[in-house]
Amino acid sequence: MRSLMASRFLLVTSMPLRILFVDHSGALGGAELFLLDLARPYADTSTVITFESGRFTEQLEAQAVPYRILESGAALQRVRKNGTWMQGLYVLPALARTAQAVAQQARSHDVIVANSQKALLPAAWAARRTGTPLIWMVHDLLTPEHFGWMQRQLVTRIANASAALVAVNSRATARAFTDGGGTGPIIEIPNGLDAAPFERARQNDSQALRTALNLPHDAPVLGVFSRLAAWKGQHVLLEALHDLPTAHVLIVGEAAFPGDKPYAEQLRTQAHHPALRGRVHFAGHRADIPDLMAACTLIVHTSTAAEPFGRVVAEGLLARRPVVATDAGGVPEIIRPQHSGLLVPPGDSAALAAACQSLLDDPDWAATLAHTGAADVRTRYGLKRMHAQFEEALRRVHPSVRIAA
Ligand code: UDP
Ligand code: GLC
Repeated sequence: MRSLMASRFLLVTSMPLRILFVDHSGALGGAELFLLDLARPYADTSTVITFESGRFTEQLEAQAVPYRILESGAALQRVRKNGTWMQGLYVLPALARTAQAVAQQARSHDVIVANSQKALLPAAWAARRTGTPLIWMVHDLLTPEHFGWMQRQLVTRIANASAALVAVNSRATARAFTDGGGTGPIIEIPNGLDAAPFERARQNDSQALRTALNLPHDAPVLGVFSRLAAWKGQHVLLEALHDLPTAHVLIVGEAAFPGDKPYAEQLRTQAHHPALRGRVHFAGHRADIPDLMAACTLIVHTSTAAEPFGRVVAEGLLARRPVVATDAGGVPEIIRPQHSGLLVPPGDSAALAAACQSLLDDPDWAATLAHTGAADVRTRYGLKRMHAQFEEALRRVHPSVRIAA
């Protein structure tokens, strides 16, 4: 509550609001990084539920946010993006146990926030069972490009029946939800990012970091910062590297899910091509993203399917680095092409190489784009703004919350 007092709105409740945040994952993806920042100010009164341990629970622990791991929910991990009815039936008993456990927790909380699709299922049941208002925070584009028909139908119907409010991370995510039959009401809560570590990183000795990473001091380094997964498209940057003969690529991230391991292997094989040898550097998962971005010449975002929001795009701008990103999903909401960065069609390695080359050829123009981009992100995607939007969401679903100016 303390840090909320500092925000633009004052949250007035008879008692401090108790929020039950539910997220299925133990991995630290963008949705979980969002939730860490969202939940931190409510740590005194609230609880985060996850279904497995991992980097996410380690961070909750480190940041003193109370959490519980419901291991019965781990069975939901077996349901894949394009899952069948049979898979769904298989996990029903575990789903029922998880829903009951979430309901048990919900009895001592005022609002439930489900932060993923797999969290929505048990959270919706718990919300109806206990009469607790439910906010579903949607981080995914519910489109055929990303999810099978059955999953889209199921989550949209559950949300329509059970969510008091649907919060989305971008306008693109909202459009996909309503195009698929989602009814809302809807509120937009884009990711809010802390600018401070990016500002600090700009003061660091990035040449020392280049040395530590075995990167050249005098050649352009193109950084790509996403988990290794086919739709994140790191292979497109390696294709583009054939047309950028002096550049090096820094690949930051790991295969966060077992199904993505073959793709990670494929990237390593691709990097062994004689024309690329010695120019592709794999750094694995890293926690020092602002420092690494500061050590890069350009930041590249390569997703071949539409990105729902794209924290890395906003982070690249915040690092005051020129950004080239793919023109789909929520990304065009973050980047104003030719003003704050460049957009290229997803999967088009020739266009990506040409965009990178144009920035490398004109460092002054590249610096102007980066400067504008950083100012845009600070204005539109600040942490305070995200918390104010979340307070507005709470006000809409919980009768005892009043917002005073
Ligand atoms: N990230 C990280 N370490 C890595 C690679 C990525 O902390 O090694 C962070 C990155 O800085 C970003 C997040 O993971 O904040 C990825 O979020 P994004 O929205 O870009 O994509 P997602 O993986 O959630 O689809
Ligand atoms: C999801 C999306 C990503 C978004 C993140 C945080 O992981 O794939 O685009 O930035 O959630 O909202």
